[in-house]
Amino acid sequence: MKTIDELLAAGVAGRRVFVRADLNVPLDGTTITDDGRIRAVLPTVKALADAGAKVVVASHLGRPKGAPDPAFSLAPVAARLGELLGTGVAFATDTVGDSARETVAGLQDGQVAVVENLRFNAGETAKDDVERGAFADQLAELADVYVGDGFGAVHRKHASVFDLPARLPHYAGHLIATEVAVLKKLTEDVRRPYVVALGGAKVSDKLAVIDELLGKADRILIGGGMAYTFLKAQGHEVGISLLQEDQVPAVREYVERAEKTGVELVLPVDVLVAGEFPDLKTKAPAHPTTVAADAIPADQEGLDIGPETRKLYASKLADAATVFWNGPMGVFEHPDYAEGTKAVAQALLDSPAFTVVGGGDSAAAVRILGFDENAFGHISTGGGASLEYLEGKTLPGLAALED
Ligand code: 3PG
Repeated sequence: MKTIDELLAAGVAGRRVFVRADLNVPLDGTTITDDGRIRAVLPTVKALADAGAKVVVASHLGRPKGAPDPAFSLAPVAARLGELLGTGVAFATDTVGDSARETVAGLQDGQVAVVENLRFNAGETAKDDVERGAFADQLAELADVYVGDGFGAVHRKHASVFDLPARLPHYAGHLIATEVAVLKKLTEDVRRPYVVALGGAKVSDKLAVIDELLGKADRILIGGGMAYTFLKAQGHEVGISLLQEDQVPAVREYVERAEKTGVELVLPVDVLVAGEFPDLKTKAPAHPTTVAADAIPADQEGLDIGPETRKLYASKLADAATVFWNGPMGVFEHPDYAEGTKAVAQALLDSPAFTVVGGGDSAAAVRILGFDENAFGHISTGGGASLEYLEGKTLPGLAALED
């Protein structure tokens, strides 16, 4: 994989460089609630601009349906990128239309433009190769060189991720190069004990990675909404907790396999429960109670791991040499249910292990809960992408940068 360093060494002054970033940030209306993904692409954008390139930044935001939708405009993201760069950026109100062409044509050496959401165009996500290719042809007209730096989207076989690099000289940006180097440490020469903490709502999102990790990790800690499917698979009642009944047989098989292979699979021993989901807008006190994980009342739902589990998980992380953490332990957006996620984050900080926080909600949780993100070994910008990498899958956006 050629990296941006080679491109910079060869010189890019005056050349139009298309940077495929992942600027899919959480928004509350037009307010960006976590700008981590914008900051993560700054080294690449800055390096290109400083070298005199005409930088064209493109990304998806949310999941619009292949047509313009103001709720998913990249305008606020472009404004924030401009603030962070300290130079301002031009913004094209379409992706490959008149506005994009004029904006790119108007760039001076060292200037940056952002084009509108790639997914406002049906060709970006089309399953049909020809349709995707036609959109990639239009994107290719905007640039002379391609830099792939949207790590969070490399698991998507989309026009700007997979088809466009085949049409232009292509390089991996600083973010992708860093992310891949880190994930290699988890797959190729992992230092042991290797402990994985998995949370988040849906167990179905994590089945493939658990399957893979059962042969790789020494210990797997389970929290978040997915823990209740594990508790059910062990024969416990989980009240009205989040449960994926159809996944119980698969989870039961994992529990059995872990026992046979000697992987320590650790489940909550106590949980915080309440009769209803908390109000995340008002954050009104939720008054949860703590119950043993095998005694969740029929009319209650589990919303965080309990105090004994926090201690247990901290002790299970303490002797790790490598840690991968993906997914919050509870409904961390509400202060009454944030302690489990905080405890895992704190245990990672206290540990001398090489720690990787795997994207999405857990990365946002770390920042929203006020932890210093620089104190962690690495916070990935890719949730699904880092999981699929660990599953051993070929990721289209990385494969496209290989040749
Ligand atoms: C993410 O947030 O995981 C990436 O930006 C990919 O987004 P997607 O799941 O909508 O493709």
